[in-house]
Amino acid sequence: MRYQGREVDIEGRVRLVMESALTARDRVGVQDFVLLENYNSEVAFIENLRRRFGENLIYTYIGSVLVSVNPYKELEIYSKQQMERYRGVSFYEISPHIYALSDNTYRAMRTERKDQCILISGESGAGKTEASKKILLYYAVTCPTNDQMPALGERLLQSNPVLEAFGNAKTFRNDNSSRFGKYMDVQFDFRGAPVGGHILNYLLEKSRVIHQNHGERNFHIFYQLLDGGEDDLLTTLGLERNPQSYQYLVKGNCPRLSSVSDKNNWKVVMKALSVIGFTEEEVQKLLNIIASVLHLGNTQFGEGEEGETYITTETKITSLTKLLGVDGSALGEALTHKKLTAKGEEMITPLSFEQAVSARDALAKAMYGRTFTWLVEKINQSLALKEEIYHSGKGCSVIGLLDIYGFEVLQHNSFEQFCINYCNEKLQQLFIELTLRSEQEEYETEGIAWETVQYFDNKIICDLIEEKHKGIISILDEECLRPGETCDVSFLEKLEDTLGGHPHFVTHKLANGKTRRVMSREEFRLLHYAGEVNYNVNGFLDKNNDLLNRNLKEVMCQSDNQILSHCFRKEEAIDQKRPEMAATQFKNSLTKLMEILMSKEPSYVRCIKPNDAKQPGRFDEVLVRHQVKYLGLMENLRVRRAGFAYRRRFEAFLQRYKPLCPETWPNWHGRLSDGVSTLVNHLGYKAEEYKLGRSKIFIRFPKTLFNTEDALEAKRPDIALTLQTSWRGYRERAKYQRIRRAVIVIQSGWRGMKARRRAKRRRQAAELIHRLIKGFIYRHEEFCPENEYFHDHVRYSFLKNLRKNLPKSVLDKSWPTSPPSLIEASDHLRRLHMRNMVAKYCHRVQPEWKKQMMQKVVASEIFKDEKDSYPQGVGRLFLDSRLEREQINLKVVQTLGSDKVQYGVTVVKYDRRGFKPRPRQLLLTNTFAVLVDRTKIKQRIDYAALRGISVSSLSDGMFVLHMPNEDNKQKGDVVLHCHHVIEVVTKLSMMASKVNYVNISPGSIRFVVARGKEGFIDFVRGSELKVAKGKRGHLLVTAPQINSA
Ligand SMILES: Nc1ncnc2c1ncn2[C@@H]1O[C@H](COP(=O)(O)OP(=O)(O)OP(=O)(O)O)[C@@H](O)[C@H]1O
Ligand SMILES: [Mg+2]
Repeated sequence: MRYQGREVDIEGRVRLVMESALTARDRVGVQDFVLLENYNSEVAFIENLRRRFGENLIYTYIGSVLVSVNPYKELEIYSKQQMERYRGVSFYEISPHIYALSDNTYRAMRTERKDQCILISGESGAGKTEASKKILLYYAVTCPTNDQMPALGERLLQSNPVLEAFGNAKTFRNDNSSRFGKYMDVQFDFRGAPVGGHILNYLLEKSRVIHQNHGERNFHIFYQLLDGGEDDLLTTLGLERNPQSYQYLVKGNCPRLSSVSDKNNWKVVMKALSVIGFTEEEVQKLLNIIASVLHLGNTQFGEGEEGETYITTETKITSLTKLLGVDGSALGEALTHKKLTAKGEEMITPLSFEQAVSARDALAKAMYGRTFTWLVEKINQSLALKEEIYHSGKGCSVIGLLDIYGFEVLQHNSFEQFCINYCNEKLQQLFIELTLRSEQEEYETEGIAWETVQYFDNKIICDLIEEKHKGIISILDEECLRPGETCDVSFLEKLEDTLGGHPHFVTHKLANGKTRRVMSREEFRLLHYAGEVNYNVNGFLDKNNDLLNRNLKEVMCQSDNQILSHCFRKEEAIDQKRPEMAATQFKNSLTKLMEILMSKEPSYVRCIKPNDAKQPGRFDEVLVRHQVKYLGLMENLRVRRAGFAYRRRFEAFLQRYKPLCPETWPNWHGRLSDGVSTLVNHLGYKAEEYKLGRSKIFIRFPKTLFNTEDALEAKRPDIALTLQTSWRGYRERAKYQRIRRAVIVIQSGWRGMKARRRAKRRRQAAELIHRLIKGFIYRHEEFCPENEYFHDHVRYSFLKNLRKNLPKSVLDKSWPTSPPSLIEASDHLRRLHMRNMVAKYCHRVQPEWKKQMMQKVVASEIFKDEKDSYPQGVGRLFLDSRLEREQINLKVVQTLGSDKVQYGVTVVKYDRRGFKPRPRQLLLTNTFAVLVDRTKIKQRIDYAALRGISVSSLSDGMFVLHMPNEDNKQKGDVVLHCHHVIEVVTKLSMMASKVNYVNISPGSIRFVVARGKEGFIDFVRGSELKVAKGKRGHLLVTAPQINSA
């Protein structure tokens, strides 16, 4: 969901979306202060900041300077996607962001091959360290990695928690305040991959080791060790868990931090140390020193009766001896005595109680301070690619990151604030010089006349502080070295003597009445470029001297602890020459830093804290105004706006605003400068409003630009419509063309293929016809190559044809005519096919049907073509019996006994003599037949005795069973008539195995009446069946004519 440029997710949280266009100015102000109409107005400036802050837009530009307001809450603008969004995108095209600045710097380094630096400043808690971490993270995530240094990005990131543990502390203003200045070089190889890093540290606030203001803490590492260290470790170090047990930790009365967990951070630091490459032994030695500082703080002194000082806590000395590997008595001695060399002679003098306390504190500070320097060196070793490459600077480019304390004005300002503010004066000087220089260079390259910029040159203040012999630092050094009684007040007097009358220097004595009221007598005031600051001279000399008694140095030199012996060199203890004073050291390191920065192309991040309470959403205008002043932002803006509010390359300007002029829309084909000229003339720009350089247009007033921007906004719907229409047209046309091209390709491919196929087919056909004709001509020749194909074809055609025309039933006798060469095969196939059909047919025949068939076959053998009624009789189904079971008398069945009736039929028996017809049943068993008259078996005919069976050739049903005539017992042959004569005779002859004994007589049948006498049955054809006595005592049977068709 989107509304008014903000994105709201499902849970209703407002997610930040940076404004994207100049047109968002009414709601969120301008994203670049140079576009502020009233650029001289601090009120307008702060209002713009406030409005943007209210919309969570914490970044705003002043030209190429990024102003960042600490949101004091996590914003969702640092994700990987955001990094991608800013990658390779031009600085002005997208809303301001620390990533835009990081990316721009990185790309400038790569394309221009020039070293870059990013200067981050702002007061404590404004977000400098967070900004530097975000920049580092951006590089670690988005840059390619070098194969030889794959872990470098991780080590660069991990150096932060280590340095923060040892160099950061909770202060009144910031829970994680960096108490040292840091300049970090990141080296990139020619491919843009980070390959090395180097850190320079400035002015660690060592005084914090021994003293903290109320509500503040010592450096984090002490608390992390006590809270997170394992029991064993603490026992080895002789420490208790409670921080309140240590004098150096109780001053601020603030052992715990609400915002972070020391225990967790301890783990993070230990892991980071191992990632960076610290050995376990080195970590142990390091912790020994940290523990020793705590023990040292608890080392107490007593005052003897004669004013001598002695140590009251000997156990602490024992612990120190053990942890530091030093001579215990020498340490005790060195803490209570001082070694002096006067006129070549060494003298040992006892220290007063106060002197012993400050000697102890000085030792603690020196130990901690030098160990911190050692730590930075050690990290540098881990980050260094190759010494020679770093020093020669060949082959790699560098981006430097400066995270240094901003201008500081406290209630009581001391030596540290003096150094910090001096540093800021130097940075301001650098900034003015470089900005003006780059402005001037740009005007020159663009061929535009330089317009003098009025600005405050703070060289006068820098000189006031650093000038040789006359500067404050020189005077301070002199005062420290001067023999005789010197003190802070004498230093102040010396300042008054030397610098009195300087416009930027005032003391109580030199001030007018009004100023005097707000100054104490121990203060001097410097009128810095950013404002006036009163410095209290108390402690200046001591802090500048930063002295450590020589005998303490000697004891430390002899330590077994390698870190300490590295930090306290023997030469230093022997060397009689005084080391450089702290302020001079700082001045020299600043000079070096300025040289480093001058050799690079700078970018700036100015951090602002919106309130003192570390609260999100609160914008304290007074506080912000104060910072805007001290950061010199108005001055920044004035310099940047001295000439023109806005400048842009011709192509970018034309690209954006070309829709506003018909001649430049949609495309300008001439020279870019002519295009821009035509465009601005069309827009009615007045001569004083702009200038055209060689490659850029310079617009003097934001109003001119805004009017143009508004015109563009008004024109947008039209442009959108035109773009939409032409885009749609283009898209559709392109789509159509694509389809058309595809169709043509497919079509031609398909057509080609079809034509090729056809041609091939034709070629093959011609060849075939040719071969066939040739074969045909040679068909009668012996088998030869010329007729081979023809014969094959004929055979093949025959077989194919045969396959289609095979006879479907055994009765179908058709068969295709075979070519001569296949006659034999054809016959063979025919037989095979027939056999196959028969086998299939037989396979399908049921047992009853088979029985039927067998009977029919027998009937056919007997009667076929012999008897007229055969076709009719064989066509009917032969039944198993023509009598139902109940039609046979039970008595008859009982008489037959075990001989079962297999077939029964009704017949008419004709007496042999009178031919009287008598109805009978003929029953067939397996071995004999009987004639039954109702309940009585009249005659039994054994099959074995049966001599033959006679029937006529006509259609009558007469049949005669011939019985043996030798046997007198037999009554003679049996004359029967039955309607199913074919069936009965077939069954009977089969059962009696007398198939060959069936005679078919054409004219008459002779039969035996009894004892040798004969009878005859004559058959004639008539109209209907008639059985009657004929002539000569013959039986005459008239059989009807049957139409066999
Ligand atoms: N961009 C940011 N987003 C969210 N929180 C931030 C951001 N910048 C700073 N903060 C918050 O402000 C606190 C202070 O920031 P930081 O430590 O960077 O200040 P600093 O300028 O380095 O101060 P000092 O000079 O004391 O070291 C951080 O611990 C963090 O809580
Ligand atoms: Mg910081």
